[in-house]
Amino acid sequence: MNLLASNEMNAFLGYQQLALIAKANAFDELAAFFAREAQDELTHYNALADYCINCKLEITFKLCECAFSCSTVRELLELAHTLEKKIGEGINAAYSISSRADQIFLDQFVLKQVNEVAKYERLLMREKLLGAVFLSTLK
Ligand SMILES: [Fe+2]
Repeated sequence: MNLLASNEMNAFLGYQQLALIAKANAFDELAAFFAREAQDELTHYNALADYCINCKLEITFKLCECAFSCSTVRELLELAHTLEKKIGEGINAAYSISSRADQIFLDQFVLKQVNEVAKYERLLMREKLLGAVFLSTLK
């Protein structure tokens, strides 16, 4: 459980970095989109951290370096897609060894993560189809 909280915090930091890179490359719509994604991840972190606190579980951070090097919209989306897949793998791994009570709490995260990965698959497809116009379709 505490590893999942760390993963969400890493996702928050990762999306903040993606937002900064997007901004530096003048992809303002994408920067705003990633900034919102960062806030979502912070919400997930808070939910997991609160659950750990309520269950008197220790929260130990295992923060990873977020040294993304990319400069195109497609590369940024691919990094976000990879980030979401990794979070999903962590949730699935934790779910398989969790108590039933923890699984009931994690159910919402399992579903959310499937949707997050699918969202980036759709965004990558839209970017492929639309090219530069894709940015104006983000909301
Ligand atoms: Fe998340």
